[in-house]
Amino acid sequence: MSAKIIDGQAIAEHVKQELRERISILQQKGIVPGLAAVLIGDDPASQVYVAMKAKAFAALGLFSETFRLPVTVDLAEVLALIDQLNSDNRFHGILVQLPLPEHLDSDRIIAQIDPQKDADGLHPMNMGRMLLGMEAPLPCTPHGILMLLKYSEIETVGKHVVVLGRSNIVGKPIANLLFQKCNPGNATVTICHTRTTNLQYLTRQADILIAAIGRPEFVRGDFIKDGTVVIDVGVNRVTAPETARGYRLVGDVKFDEVAPKAAAITPVPGGVGPMTIAMLIYNTVFLAEKALQT
Ligand SMILES: NC(=O)c1ccc[n+]([C@@H]2O[C@H](COP(=O)([O-])OP(=O)(O)OC[C@H]3O[C@@H](n4cnc5c(N)ncnc54)[C@H](OP(=O)(O)O)[C@@H]3O)[C@@H](O)[C@H]2O)c1
Repeated sequence: MSAKIIDGQAIAEHVKQELRERISILQQKGIVPGLAAVLIGDDPASQVYVAMKAKAFAALGLFSETFRLPVTVDLAEVLALIDQLNSDNRFHGILVQLPLPEHLDSDRIIAQIDPQKDADGLHPMNMGRMLLGMEAPLPCTPHGILMLLKYSEIETVGKHVVVLGRSNIVGKPIANLLFQKCNPGNATVTICHTRTTNLQYLTRQADILIAAIGRPEFVRGDFIKDGTVVIDVGVNRVTAPETARGYRLVGDVKFDEVAPKAAAITPVPGGVGPMTIAMLIYNTVFLAEKALQT
């Protein structure tokens, strides 16, 4: 078996293309969807992600501004900035780039964002709405995975999905979304984490395996049965002295071993990553539309 490669770049472009009409309707009403990105500290990966997001917004004629705070900033200063952004009408969405420096409480900071400006869909109120199957901005990476499955015409109804990882930004929400009574959805979901026993026994039962653990090439060929759909969320830097930058990016899945057995697989890079940015744009447009209705 040779896996179909799920092209996240192409599907992300398709999602953005579909958004153009909604953006133009908003623009005709004098509204340019705007995003405030808050970047704290000097984590190199976070800086790259925020720059990529700003570029993607500009390419669609959308407004975005990045607010940079030093790594030494205290909680009160961050909360004050969020309050200021909550009441700034130029911004329909606010994003706080994660992870944050260790001394900052990310739950507290996310909770300060106005739920109606929650571009990442991580506010407790929106996570609760998602859990209940109510309309909400959905967390970008899980939402992007749903779109990858949808546009690749991968059936989820009645399938067994195994999710590796239970983080608030990926594992918990994607597991939740896939068992909702909708399509993509209606799957039976198993969630695995560091305390899971017989992990490989479970992954071998998966029709769809979603790996989001942050462990380079952890999922090996013998973790799956033939014909599994594999979604690799991991983005890990591994040392590669032969490259100009000294590292290369790999997923949580050992691609060369897993792809020959899989029915379909996302590459790293070029799979889930581009979708996360596309869904951030999607959420900002969605929030701008909602703001217009209130
Ligand atoms: N492409 C994108 O747009 C995108 C977006 C977000 C994240 N990511 C990438 O996705 C990966 C995961 O990110 P995250 O933020 O969800 O990670 P995280 O917050 O570090 O959570 C990792 C999860 O994986 C579990 N885990 C770790 N090692 C494990 C193992 N050996 N066996 C089973 N479970 C294990 C942990 O279990 P415990 O709960 O028991 O500790 C935890 O629930 C990272 O590589 C990250 O860079 C990519």
